[in-house]
Amino acid sequence: MSSSPIRLTWRTREAPPEICGAALTTLREGDPCATLIEGDNLAALAALADTRGGQASLVYLDPPFFTGRQHRQVTRRREASGVFSREEQPAFDDRWDGLHAYLTALEARLHYARALLAPHGSLVLHVDPKTSHYAKVLLDELFGPDCFASEIVWRYRRWPSKTQNFQRVHDVLLRYVRDPDVEPRFCQLYEPLAASTRATWGTRKQRAVVSDGRRQRSSVSDAESPGAPLGDVWEIGIVAPVARERTGYPTQKPEALLTRLVSALTHPGDWIVDPYVGSGTTLAVAAALGRSAHGIDQNPEALRLCEARLTKRGITASRLRLSTEQERAPLSKASPSPAGASAKQPSKLPIAS
Ligand SMILES: C[S@@+](CC[C@H](N)C(=O)[O-])C[C@H]1O[C@@H](n2cnc3c(N)ncnc32)[C@H](O)[C@@H]1O
Repeated sequence: MSSSPIRLTWRTREAPPEICGAALTTLREGDPCATLIEGDNLAALAALADTRGGQASLVYLDPPFFTGRQHRQVTRRREASGVFSREEQPAFDDRWDGLHAYLTALEARLHYARALLAPHGSLVLHVDPKTSHYAKVLLDELFGPDCFASEIVWRYRRWPSKTQNFQRVHDVLLRYVRDPDVEPRFCQLYEPLAASTRATWGTRKQRAVVSDGRRQRSSVSDAESPGAPLGDVWEIGIVAPVARERTGYPTQKPEALLTRLVSALTHPGDWIVDPYVGSGTTLAVAAALGRSAHGIDQNPEALRLCEARLTKRGITASRLRLSTEQERAPLSKASPSPAGASAKQPSKLPIAS
């Protein structure tokens, strides 16, 4: 499997579990471009890999970040009196029996997520600096170091925390391609030219003047510049409390972030999978950009929010569910769920015979 000479080890590390017989059944036929699956993403990814392996242009994973917290969903309602009320309910559990349990669960999901990728496809894993270094070594192992494509730093601004340290204001998005010998989907995006470039060159396209294979100087052409090719540090605002896209779901990612990924890494009509779909940012963006997408989540309330978001765009999502036999299957040691997983979140690993 691995072509990386470096291997991460931890207590209890085993090969990702082999999952046989995971199956999905239709709960509701809706728009085939937006499909939601309720249940544990490991079994769902294995089932998708069986039927649609090698077809996804993008798998985007935004797992819990190993925060050690139970995340809560906030619902705000305007009462008849005009006063806003606020209700909180548990959304998802991010408490683990240690880093080894977190990495074990992540590795198994990455293994099946990779199996979904088309030869031109990319996997993007969204993590934070607590775990990104481990995740990168795991991905190097799983894909091979040649498949590493980008480490995108998403830089945002938020209310400062009281800390005798630099403020933590970035996440890390690791992008790996499925096959280093196949040209991956990549549509060039641009960002505004730097003020210093505009001051020197204006807004027309620069052209390198090359001699002896080296750039000697630049000149400008008559064509207007589209901007500078987008770099790997992205400054995008978090979803503000008053933003129209805000759902109240914890850790909701901004549509602007997913719009960049989806526009750069897929073509219209391509298939995208998000195994930790949460409030459905990926599916909302995919629908807006004419891509089809599957989203998986074990929290029914997350899927309800995601459906509501799609309904606003005139889309009734299709629904699939894991077969009952898998839901009854015993918890596997090889895929621990968060330490405090509640009954509402069946993190079961169906190893069906
Ligand atoms: C960080 S949130 C995703 C947020 C999402 N990107 C958004 O913009 O709203 C992680 C989600 O993964 C779900 N989740 C965690 N572990 C899971 C598992 N094993 N199977 C399915 N869903 C899981 C949680 O319920 C939660 O909704």
